Amino acid sequence: MATIKLTINNQPRTLDVEPDMPLLWAIRDVVGLTGTKFGCGIAQCGACTVHLDGSPVRSCSVPVSAVSGQKITTIEGLSKNADHPVQKAWIAHQVPQCGYCQSGQIMSAVALLKTTPKPTDSDIDNAMQGNICRCGTYTRVREAIHTASAEMNTANKLPKNGAKVGKR
Ligand code: FES
Ligand code: FES
Repeated sequence: MATIKLTINNQPRTLDVEPDMPLLWAIRDVVGLTGTKFGCGIAQCGACTVHLDGSPVRSCSVPVSAVSGQKITTIEGLSKNADHPVQKAWIAHQVPQCGYCQSGQIMSAVALLKTTPKPTDSDIDNAMQGNICRCGTYTRVREAIHTASAEMNTANKLPKNGAKVGKR
């Protein structure tokens, strides 16, 4: 056993676990955050995607000891009221079908929009190709990412002090 300190969704955690335990196991079984899903266990499906210091990783294939001291964000930590622009776009486009892959899809989409605020279809296809959906929601995923991108880019253009442009 080892003592691993890390931060999950802005909360410091100390875990007494086997150092080679996959991060996914630690998140789900030790911490109790079950929004992140187990699909393949070999970094091939994307269902287990979380952010490690802001970048997407497959948590099934990362030993928990390798992320000691780092910041993890799971689907539960994306927003307080499921109102992140990506989550809102997912609801507006009714993306989820069975839903199993969707937390991983959303985490990959959020990571994409951080690095590429206005992605093309091909940017989206490239970034999302590791997230497999048995229900075939790919077209809706793409549309929802465009919608979230538009909302996030509009929000970024608003004056920070809330003043209305052009009015005195
Ligand atoms: S469960 Fe991790 S990539 Fe499939
Ligand atoms: S919504 Fe069913 S696997 Fe993606």
